[in-house]
Amino acid sequence: MAGLLRDLRAHLAWQREEGGAEVMDMERPQGPPLPARSGGAAPEAAVVPPAASAPLARRTLEAIRGELGDCQRCKLCSGRKQLVFGAGNPHARLVFVGEGPGAEEDLQGLPFVGPAGQLLTKMIGAMGLQREDVYICNVVKCRPPGNRNPEPDEIAACEPFLRAQLNSIGPEVVVALGKFAAQTLLRDATPITRLRGQWRTYQGMKLMPTFHPAYLLRNPAEKKPCWEDLKAVMAVLGKPAPKP
Ligand code: URA
Repeated sequence: MAGLLRDLRAHLAWQREEGGAEVMDMERPQGPPLPARSGGAAPEAAVVPPAASAPLARRTLEAIRGELGDCQRCKLCSGRKQLVFGAGNPHARLVFVGEGPGAEEDLQGLPFVGPAGQLLTKMIGAMGLQREDVYICNVVKCRPPGNRNPEPDEIAACEPFLRAQLNSIGPEVVVALGKFAAQTLLRDATPITRLRGQWRTYQGMKLMPTFHPAYLLRNPAEKKPCWEDLKAVMAVLGKPAPKP
């Protein structure tokens, strides 16, 4: 009963978000747009996906983190406070992949703990889950300076570790948040506006591309299609969609 109430409260919180989910109030005034940052790239612009690499043997998350070490594989190492590897359940059925750490993530060493992260936490709650149930990580593990977009060489240096993480966890579903995650994992330069909502396969896992929470913060009307994508994920995971 307590769990049901918690799920319902979380779902209502997501719905109350400006322009969010199924209960939409498009007439409400919206705050000033947030400055562009991780996930903030125009969804139409294409990322050049890195070249495909050979399949990796399955390793534990600890082993993968150990291999990264004090990573100096790309120029992002010079500006980071700390590397943000990922967090959550190593046996999660659902993994969210974002773009790269922002300022708050760089400070805390944890993914999605800034403003976009707070929205992601609400989205996860609306799905009847908690952050501890899922695993959250990013395409690049170090903060791009000034929250610029990650560059192709940085994505290429980090992507094998993302692949290894996903291979280690083996989730049923991967949700790719925004164009960098979707285009990198799928090696498909189709704009996220067209990728989103369409089931794809990533190394035997179901992959759902959807909008990045930072983009949703600036474009609240896009929460509705994003919620449709998350409901499709819930259906695959056998979780009933909460009633509005
Ligand atoms: N944006 C991302 O893509 N990842 C984070 O961890 C935080 C913001």
